[in-house]
Amino acid sequence: MRLMLRNRKLPFAAVACLVVLVLLWKWADVRSVCWGGNSAHNVGAMVRDEESGGSNYRYHRNMPLIFIGGVPRSGTTLMRAMLDAHPEVRCGQETRVIPRILQLRSHWMKSEKESVRLVEAGITKEVLNGAIAQFCLEIIAKHGDPAPRLCNKDPLTLKMGSYVIELFPAAKFLFMVRDGRATVHSIISRKVTITGFDLTSYRQCLTKWNQAIQTMHEQCKEIGSERCMMVYYEQLVLHPEEWMRKILHFLDIPWNDSVLHHEEFINKENGVALSKVERSSDQVIKPVNLEALSKWVGKIPSDVIRDMADIAPMLSVLGYDPYSNPPDYGKPDSYVQENTYKVRSNPQMWEHRAKELLNRDPLAENVPPKAKDTDEDDYGGGSKDRKT
Ligand SMILES: *[C@@H]1O[C@H](CO)[C@@H](O)[C@H](O)[C@H]1NC(C)=O
Repeated sequence: MRLMLRNRKLPFAAVACLVVLVLLWKWADVRSVCWGGNSAHNVGAMVRDEESGGSNYRYHRNMPLIFIGGVPRSGTTLMRAMLDAHPEVRCGQETRVIPRILQLRSHWMKSEKESVRLVEAGITKEVLNGAIAQFCLEIIAKHGDPAPRLCNKDPLTLKMGSYVIELFPAAKFLFMVRDGRATVHSIISRKVTITGFDLTSYRQCLTKWNQAIQTMHEQCKEIGSERCMMVYYEQLVLHPEEWMRKILHFLDIPWNDSVLHHEEFINKENGVALSKVERSSDQVIKPVNLEALSKWVGKIPSDVIRDMADIAPMLSVLGYDPYSNPPDYGKPDSYVQENTYKVRSNPQMWEHRAKELLNRDPLAENVPPKAKDTDEDDYGGGSKDRKT
């Protein structure tokens, strides 16, 4: 080696080394272009703007994607905001198209006639899975900033969770679980339209909640605890540090304190990008607090309260007492208590901040809403089938 270093061949050797390295690095691309058949190895790249360093992140089906699922209004936005605050993770807004394309495919598969037609047309399982995976990957990678770890939060995707794992074998799910009474109260009071949910009836919505969470619970069990972790919203809110440590460990992401202060990263570069139209946006601009835990108490009709265990048997399955009003969810960490005090003591400041962050376009407020807007689903991919 010393001889080598001393003689003049050093620059030549360095260049040769570099060429070999570049070839090795490009090999995945070269291979997928030449032998395009193996779709699992198709690779794309996200490039960050030159000004922020020009880092290049590759995306492909074998990457460790993160999916956040659960019944809407169960803390999925809080979860993704906390992860978005981490410098290595980017989730971003709901894409809406991912659960829809997964559901479309599930409809094709349910129809025997259609399945036969597809196979006869050469659209085998591999062809279809490859195309759907590429579609989802493009959307997840390109709808936000590049980042080393990509994450998706379209809550209802978990209903097709085991298929998502078939598409992306190294992906992991976070399953947000929340007391169904709180979830349904939030859906109804915030008028969150979900296909199949009748917003005029607590009884019907709790039945639908029960169906949806049962499906998700089954999917999560099928996926297995290595790839699907249940996160109780109440526990995340009461003990954010303990739970974020568990969650980041499960996801193989190093700890960073920024996940405990997501509100400081709202709409900042590489931070938490919010949608002006998602219902949860005005809540996640606030620090983690206890406001949403027991709002439902006293709001549910007494005949529904009486029949709770029969209407929503999943409550007990998940460890909630269907007859306690309210249940004792536990004692919060002191800093959550302080956050709650800050949020409660200055409502005007938070309202102002919500306006500032979410209503930047003054023109939008002057446009009268069209009647039809209210019929559009916030969440497609719910279930329309009635099993009564
Ligand atoms: C945590 O993230 C911030 C940016 O959000 C970064 O500046 C800091 O170095 C990170 N800390 C650790 C310990 O990685």
